[in-house]
Amino acid sequence: MSQIISVNVSQSYNISISYNDLSSLVDFLKNSNFVKKLFIISDTNVCLLHLQTLLRYIEKTNYSYSIYCFEAGEQSKSKEVLFDIYDFLIENQADRKTPLVAFGGGVVGDVASFAASTFMRGMPLIHVPTTVVSQTDSSIGGKTAINHTKGKNLIGTFYQPNAVFIDTKFLDTLSDEEFFNAFSEIIKYGVIMDRQLFSFLETHIEDVLKRDAKTISDIIYDCAKDKSLIVQKDEKEASLRAILNFGHTLAHAIEAFFEYKKYTHPQAVSIGEVFAAKLSINLGLIGENTFIRIKNLLEKFNLPTKIDNIDPDELIKIMQHDKKTKGGILEFILTKDIGEAIIANDIEYSLLIKTIRELQ
Ligand code: GLY
Repeated sequence: MSQIISVNVSQSYNISISYNDLSSLVDFLKNSNFVKKLFIISDTNVCLLHLQTLLRYIEKTNYSYSIYCFEAGEQSKSKEVLFDIYDFLIENQADRKTPLVAFGGGVVGDVASFAASTFMRGMPLIHVPTTVVSQTDSSIGGKTAINHTKGKNLIGTFYQPNAVFIDTKFLDTLSDEEFFNAFSEIIKYGVIMDRQLFSFLETHIEDVLKRDAKTISDIIYDCAKDKSLIVQKDEKEASLRAILNFGHTLAHAIEAFFEYKKYTHPQAVSIGEVFAAKLSINLGLIGENTFIRIKNLLEKFNLPTKIDNIDPDELIKIMQHDKKTKGGILEFILTKDIGEAIIANDIEYSLLIKTIRELQ
């Protein structure tokens, strides 16, 4: 049994969420007008752990398939891997009616969807995400990207998939560290738009930490729903969609400062979220109690909540060079209450310095 979320954007599609069941993918393929030939793009980790599961379902259809697995890791979001994918598609006679299946986490989703969006000006795209962040965020909403040596995600397109199939059983093979780190991105939905989700995490923390399958599926469903609501209102990030960057302005600077070695992205986001909450207190938007709730919840997942002893001026300089910065003006997503975000871009420099120091 799957739950379905409809995403109504320029090309509308459904997200199907299930546990240990991809039969909705089988039905979708059988009922589509695609050429009956699938191109599965994945990475070495996911191929090893989960490819047989995916193929068991695909073999119930009359599609043939070709598989391309690149080396797992952020370094594969590169022009080299992208062109290897194009070569693979050309060699195997892909065309504008043959669907590409992006099977894996965020890296696979980003590079494979970029390939799908550009190969012959666009081929059908199906996401089968296998990690917490890809199931709750990156497979939904049509952002595609590869990295440039000068910055992450500098090259990309908006390209909506034809369907997304989330099977939360894939999460079982993630280590506790990978799994719980991702909760900074889940807590984000609670803070910016979903007070109920935030309270649920607080009150069901034992079940979450036990990785109880039903509790986790419910949380993934809520996040996928939240994400689709945002992209429906602002598909191309004209404004509202930016609230998904809660915690990310400082996070990107911290990641860059440590050359992407000290923290994983969600760990850096956790620090950025505490910073955004502290800034919200300093601007009189929230009280100490709300700040403590956010920080405590992040700490339940062993996520970092302090800023390293870095010169605040340097951190601000790095933030000003981030690709999300427009005309050098820093934008921060702040909170007025749990479940309510605001976008602020006129924060005084001295307040940023003071807030960074308070968290060091
Ligand atoms: N991950 C942020 C967005 O999709 O807009």
